[in-house]
Amino acid sequence: MLSGKNILLGITGGIAAYKTTFLVRLLIKAGAEVKVIMTESASSFVSPLTLATLSKNPVLLDFINEDDGSISWNNHVELGLWADIMLLAPATANTLSKMANGTCDNLLLATYLSAKCPVYFAPAMDLDMYKHPSTKKSFEALQSFGNVMIPAESGELASGLSGEGRMAEPENIIGFLQDHLSTGLPLSDKKVLITAGPTHEAIDPVRFLGNRSTGSMGFALAEHAAQLGAKVVLVSGPSNLTTSHANIELVRITSAQEMYEAVHQYFSEIDIAISAAAVADYRPKEVANQKIKKKADAPLELALERTKDILASMGTQKQQQFLVGFALETENELANAKAKLQRKNLDAIILNSLQDKGAGFGTTTNKITFIDKNLNVKAFELKTKAEVAADIWKEISNRVHA
Ligand code: CTP
Repeated sequence: MLSGKNILLGITGGIAAYKTTFLVRLLIKAGAEVKVIMTESASSFVSPLTLATLSKNPVLLDFINEDDGSISWNNHVELGLWADIMLLAPATANTLSKMANGTCDNLLLATYLSAKCPVYFAPAMDLDMYKHPSTKKSFEALQSFGNVMIPAESGELASGLSGEGRMAEPENIIGFLQDHLSTGLPLSDKKVLITAGPTHEAIDPVRFLGNRSTGSMGFALAEHAAQLGAKVVLVSGPSNLTTSHANIELVRITSAQEMYEAVHQYFSEIDIAISAAAVADYRPKEVANQKIKKKADAPLELALERTKDILASMGTQKQQQFLVGFALETENELANAKAKLQRKNLDAIILNSLQDKGAGFGTTTNKITFIDKNLNVKAFELKTKAEVAADIWKEISNRVHA
């Protein structure tokens, strides 16, 4: 479950920090990519050099790096987006209280506030601190935000006392993460199919009909589903984008017919399908074997024929699947999208209006309206495509688990 995952390990200032050297080794052994952020006091308990060597990445200590006279910035937003999982171990009472209250006075806390991924925390403190109502309040607040607590263990404490408060042993933290990832994420039992990108319809060996879709919305949907634990098949037309998430099987195709065949190879096994591809509606009726030569005066006429409607075909075969389409409209948007939802037998449709600036193809942002089969309509603000993907998955998840 940890193989291929980007793990951001936040280490705070407690004696259990020395155990994070073993924790990093186990994470790397499990196939994870690890980046470490430490608070200043954590670096008194365990050497950043040791952790940088074990994690094979520089250890991040502050917002600003000053090396050899050059200054660079550790971007907490980028770190938050990079991570599939954020793990705080050991998590001290002080840092947990700051996290619960939105305090942001170091790189680790700023990254915590920026992270969109699941957050796990493994508290470590003396037994009375662990039992204190104020600490319990932090635990409750963080769990109410969706963060997951890896409970402390009982035993001998650094103070010489014995009781509850020891950080869970590194092997147990790994075991907890693995168990939780396989059962605890909202889409961990779901198989998801997503189509993305344009299709290219050959005219001759060197030319094609295509469109300006980049695939970014479909890829963002696939990444987010994988982060929520789903097994994802991403069928993409020609796109420069790629993905390395272990839960995503990327199937690259070129034409609408190839996309149709790939989709139908997987569809019967799928729980949720989202059709985000900009599939060509027409293709040349005949594909020339040789490059078409221009003629002096005569215009070139291409006869076109319809491609198969992949989404509509999924709609007719639908059984257990929750099926979602996209509609890109320029006028009578809501009415057209609702009609499309019913015509293609969908469970939901996501409307892009070309009248909204920043929506649709070739932008990093999108503005959507989510419509379900009961014709409930929810309009969202203009957001980045990663944020839009999160909104879409929240709407789908609510309905699939209802
Ligand atoms: N779609 C598909 N296969 C096609 C065409 C479209 O799977 N051959 C899917 C798209 O991925 C999208 C939805 O259908 O989810 C868009 O529906 P469509 O009726 O093609 O939209 P428009 O092309 O905008 O329709 P119209 O020409 O009616 O405006």
